[in-house]
Amino acid sequence: MSFSWAIEIHDTLESTQATLKDMALKNASEGTVVQALQQTKGKGRYEREWVSEEGNLFFSLLIRPSCPAHSIGPLSLLTGLAVAKAIQPYLDEPESLVLKWPNDILLVGKKCAGILLETEIGADQNIEWVVVGIGINVSSAPPDLGICLGDHVQSSVDLNTLRDDILAQFDLYYSLWRREGIEKIRTFWLETGHEKDTPVQVKMGDEFIEGRFFDIDKQGNMLLHDNAGQLRKITAGEVYI
Ligand code: BTN
Repeated sequence: MSFSWAIEIHDTLESTQATLKDMALKNASEGTVVQALQQTKGKGRYEREWVSEEGNLFFSLLIRPSCPAHSIGPLSLLTGLAVAKAIQPYLDEPESLVLKWPNDILLVGKKCAGILLETEIGADQNIEWVVVGIGINVSSAPPDLGICLGDHVQSSVDLNTLRDDILAQFDLYYSLWRREGIEKIRTFWLETGHEKDTPVQVKMGDEFIEGRFFDIDKQGNMLLHDNAGQLRKITAGEVYI
């Protein structure tokens, strides 16, 4: 399958995510994309603010995968993969870009892009919609917290071209997942993600787990060996490497 993207661009929005979620609730079509040149209330994971100054890329896309809520794990991985693969060709050193589970994009060890997935689950436990929000630090990044692509590319990055590159990559990996399941997504993710045995720390609810990255399982969860030698399955949580 291939999405036909319908892209609307706004000068300023509070949040492309909030706008597109409202539209999803009012039956907007799969493939709707909302982009803003700047956001006044950009939203990150864990209710954090996503600093959204003009010159960076902010957009959200709407899909309706109509699958059970419990099988959505790969979507998070494939979105990170799509963003990573779209960014890499711009970089002086493509291998300096690494995925951190589940979908943070690190450039020389610092975050240059963030992804936020929000869903509505129907009474039948199937997914009604997913709004995927993507923010890329192209020309600036919050001090200390991030890094921007602009300092690591050979030529300037056009925001709309980068958005289209990401949408094209998303299309490819999404189709692959729907056709063949997680296996190839998992393989590609492991090629681009942090290496096995990388020390990781995870905040999962109230628990803080330290260990070494081991693998990604068939649901898209992270497996790690904790410092007590136990194999642990991480289904959600904040990861530090
Ligand atoms: C993260 O915390 O890593 C996720 C950040 C997601 C930011 C993007 S920017 C476009 C979209 N609109 C928002 O308000 N948030 C997402």
